[in-house]
Amino acid sequence: MTPLPTVRTIAELRRRITAWRADDARIALVPTMGALHDGHLSLIRLARSRATRVVASLFVNPTQFAPTEDFQSYPRNEVRDATLLKAAGCDLLYAPDPDEMYPDGFATTVTVAAETTSLEGAVRPDHFAGVATVVAKLLIQAAPDLAVFGEKDYQQLHVIRRLTADLNLAVEIIGAPIVRDSDGLALSSRNAYLSASERLIAPGLHRALEAAAAALRAGMDVAEVEAEAIGSVLGAGFDAVDYIEVRSADRLARMGPGAHDSAARILAAARLGRTRLLDNIHV
Ligand code: PAF
Repeated sequence: MTPLPTVRTIAELRRRITAWRADDARIALVPTMGALHDGHLSLIRLARSRATRVVASLFVNPTQFAPTEDFQSYPRNEVRDATLLKAAGCDLLYAPDPDEMYPDGFATTVTVAAETTSLEGAVRPDHFAGVATVVAKLLIQAAPDLAVFGEKDYQQLHVIRRLTADLNLAVEIIGAPIVRDSDGLALSSRNAYLSASERLIAPGLHRALEAAAAALRAGMDVAEVEAEAIGSVLGAGFDAVDYIEVRSADRLARMGPGAHDSAARILAAARLGRTRLLDNIHV
């Protein structure tokens, strides 16, 4: 198999995209930080089904990591990622160096004010500014017709929808369903950090969310649902729960007691050893 064509500069990326546009292509972008798993590949396949050309970006974005987080140790294997992307139907890999993305003198940050200070934002205060800035840049650089993001990072997807609407970016944002292992654990590049014994505990997060969704559907009070789910995750062997909250699916607003009529999403983050696991479920 010939290797996946790879470009590293904005100018090269734009040259390819311009050539595709001349052929009337419908172009999809799938932003990633690499360390690809089946969840990422499902994004590529979804993009492939909606577009005639698919470009994936691979950029471990330093600005979305806090100094105490795993930027340095984040798994990197571009050759493996490129092979997987090609097999999944990707046409082009855009893998810029940090200097291309953030040249000397770079001074602009995109901050989305809505729902970025709670949930992930409460634990990782600068995270969403880093995500919003790099995603805005990628969308401007590639100017795709559509871009695909995983629902596993549900709050991130919400932030990206907000920023594209607010900045009038002419791109359709598509959310792709979470892909899970057979025991329910949501696929994540950070699952690689789990020890064998932690891996056995990890599906407890999804099980707790399934039980919480069922309890909410049965009419249990929101606060009770949240408290029970937190107890169940800790009981399964997790070290700490950062949050388990019932939010409205569309605006991520807190849901009051008795708010059982509208679509909800239960979002969770919990710690197991050195790994932080995120998950969420639709109700
Ligand atoms: O979800 C991710 O992998 C990253 O946050 C993203 C969207 C590629 C931005 O760096």
